[in-house]
Amino acid sequence: MKSFQITVLPTNRKIEVTEEKSLHSALTQAGIDIEGTCGGKGTCGKCKVRVLEGKKALAKDAGKKLSKEEKEAGWRLACLIPIEEDMTISIPAKAEEGDRKTHLSGKDHYQVDTQFKKTNITMPKPSLEDQKSDINRIIAELGEDDYEITLQVLEKAPKMIRDSKFNVTVTSYGKKIIDIEKGDTTKEIYGVAFDIGTTTVVGTLINLVTGEVTAANAAANAQRSYGADVIARITYVSENKNGLEVLKNKVVETMNNIINSLIDTAKINPENIYSIVTVGNTVMQHLLIGSNPINIAMAPYTPVFQNSLKLNAYTMGIHVNKEAVLYTTPNVAGYVGADTVGVILATHIEESEDILLAVDIGTNGEIMLGNKDRIIACSAAAGPAFEGAQIKKGMRAADGAIEKVTITDDVYIDVIGNKKPIGICGSGLVDAVAELIKVGIINLGGRLLPSDEVPNLTKALKDRIVEGRNGYDFVIYKGEDSLEDVVLTQKDVRELQLAKGAIYAGIKILISELGIEVKDINRVLLAGAFGNYIQVESAKTIALLPEELEVEQVGNAAGIGARMVLASDSEKARADYISDKIKYIELSSRKDFQDVFMTALGFGN
Ligand code: FES
Repeated sequence: MKSFQITVLPTNRKIEVTEEKSLHSALTQAGIDIEGTCGGKGTCGKCKVRVLEGKKALAKDAGKKLSKEEKEAGWRLACLIPIEEDMTISIPAKAEEGDRKTHLSGKDHYQVDTQFKKTNITMPKPSLEDQKSDINRIIAELGEDDYEITLQVLEKAPKMIRDSKFNVTVTSYGKKIIDIEKGDTTKEIYGVAFDIGTTTVVGTLINLVTGEVTAANAAANAQRSYGADVIARITYVSENKNGLEVLKNKVVETMNNIINSLIDTAKINPENIYSIVTVGNTVMQHLLIGSNPINIAMAPYTPVFQNSLKLNAYTMGIHVNKEAVLYTTPNVAGYVGADTVGVILATHIEESEDILLAVDIGTNGEIMLGNKDRIIACSAAAGPAFEGAQIKKGMRAADGAIEKVTITDDVYIDVIGNKKPIGICGSGLVDAVAELIKVGIINLGGRLLPSDEVPNLTKALKDRIVEGRNGYDFVIYKGEDSLEDVVLTQKDVRELQLAKGAIYAGIKILISELGIEVKDINRVLLAGAFGNYIQVESAKTIALLPEELEVEQVGNAAGIGARMVLASDSEKARADYISDKIKYIELSSRKDFQDVFMTALGFGN
């Protein structure tokens, strides 16, 4: 194919394209972050770009997701445009990546108990009377003789020992000598705990000598341009020859970007990172190690592996010490992964006398119920609505996202970063619907009502109810200064009902499976970044959670679990115990699931 040039405004970046591909793929592969939650099928409408120059692109079928006005103004879906000419496009204003609102908190210190150890030694110099090898000289100083030696140490030793005048620091992992450095670096043993979410990846750097959290950061999972949820990712793998490799590389790239930012913040040498621990759903863990998760997508939903794995992080492509260990926390089943184990590690449900209900709301909602005697868990396919996907003006929780909505005489909003609103994130969506239920604009069946069916509405609120494509829409924010309106559509309300219905049905089924009643549950532990920001009262109003239960927001519990595992081998053993103890309940095999789900769709608690 001929080479074509794409000019991307407003940055004026030029991309050369030499192979047949869609504009969406070309932008993604060039590292330009463009949304696309349907994996390039033209069905989510998120990959909008404005074609300024490109006759063939403008002549193409623009799909069903754009309005007539948008099409006339040159907007097109990037995934529906094959590259057949030089083009100039502009990408819409969007949230700044760096300002992602992700809950990074947790303890700032963890108890350390690992097999990593550094010892500073000064060796006697060799002589004609003492011709011991360099390695034997090191082992003699360590005082034990049954060490295994790695290639890295054999390669580095002769120069390192002499450059440092026979004073070196030796890093061991159990009975294996894994590294050798000049001088005294005994305080420099680091590890990174990763919580690999389908949408967001969070990394935490911990000093494994002191147990201190040294830095933490989050980034969008670069896989998300290939599909919003785990099923879309698996579909991408099964439909594309190099799909598995592409997705593996994307998550590794995300992890490396996070590591770069962590070492910049902490001012450390990446070679001093010896340990990587991951939690994540089972599909994310498979994609990370390049293991094909295809069987998780079809009954009986079998993963390739579920126990914890210990691999070499460096050969996996992670930019850390050559001998760093990558430990994947154990999964439970195809749809209940290490992130669930992480939540239980952090919340100690397996030690609790009281019955606790933990809900980790993400693209998939993981639900756990139990105490020290028994824990059962299920996964509810909430879909990406809580992450802002499949919602007309939905977006991730980043600058410009409406995160809080209050409705009295009119609508009052809080916007992340105090910017002009450009969309609405999951917590804003739940708030908006809850507030509209309270003022009667949305009924308990989920219908957005026309203003003449709602008594006692102020004029300001009446004016916000407008006719939409499928029923009525509600204008949350009226666009100013060329910004578009942020509108909640009837379809958005239906999407939210499906998402929250899946979670609420999962909760009901676990309660019946355990043979208890709601009143027997001591409290709800709401985990995950979304769970941390949601207004609990709004979650109860839309019947996402049982109204009568006390709710404790526990933050990014899965990520905290990963940190605990990173810092401590005892926590690794606990993770194994927990993953064995959890009994997985497959919702789709329950005959009553469909009925429970249908009743859970309503907004009445
Ligand atoms: S419409 Fe293009 S990625 Fe979904």
